[in-house]
Amino acid sequence: MKKVECIIRPEAFQALRHRLDEIGIYGLTVSEVAGCGKQKGKTGFFRGSTYEINLNAKVKVEMVVDDEQVEGIVEVVIETCSTGEIGDGKIFILPIDDVIRIRTKEKGREALI
Ligand SMILES: Nc1ncnc2c1ncn2[C@@H]1O[C@H](COP(=O)(O)OP(=O)(O)OP(=O)(O)O)[C@@H](O)[C@H]1O
Ligand SMILES: [Mg+2]
Repeated sequence: MKKVECIIRPEAFQALRHRLDEIGIYGLTVSEVAGCGKQKGKTGFFRGSTYEINLNAKVKVEMVVDDEQVEGIVEVVIETCSTGEIGDGKIFILPIDDVIRIRTKEKGREALI
C-alpha cells in the first residue's frame, strides 16, 4: 500500500475529485494548506528588519491505495492539475505499513476497500 499525497492549486480540486471518482478512488483526505516550492514564495529583500515571506494557498489531497492504483492516480493528477506554469504542485508517494478500519478491526488491504 502507498499514500499518494498531492499538493495542487485549489482551483484544480473539483476536476481532480471528479476524475478520481471515475477511476474508483473514494477514500481521501483534503486539507487547505499553505506552502512554497523552488521559488521560495518570498521576495528575499529586507523590509525593515524582517524578510517578507510569502506562502501560496494550496490544497493537499491524501489517498492511501493499493500499489496498482498509484500509476492511474498520478496520470489523473497530472492531467487535471497541469497548467504548465510554476506552482502546479507536487505528488509525493509514501509507503504505508498498515491500515485499520476502526469499526470492524479489519486490517491491511481489507480495510482499504
Ligand atoms: N519539497 C517539498 N516538500 C514539501 N512540500 C513541497 C515541496 N515542494 C513543493 N511543496 C508544496 O507544493 C506546493 C507547490 O509547489 P510548486 O508547484 O511551487 O513546486 P516547485 O518545485 O516550486 O515547482 P514549480 O517550479 O513548478 O513551481 C508548495 O506551495 C508547497 O506546499
Ligand atoms: Mg514553485
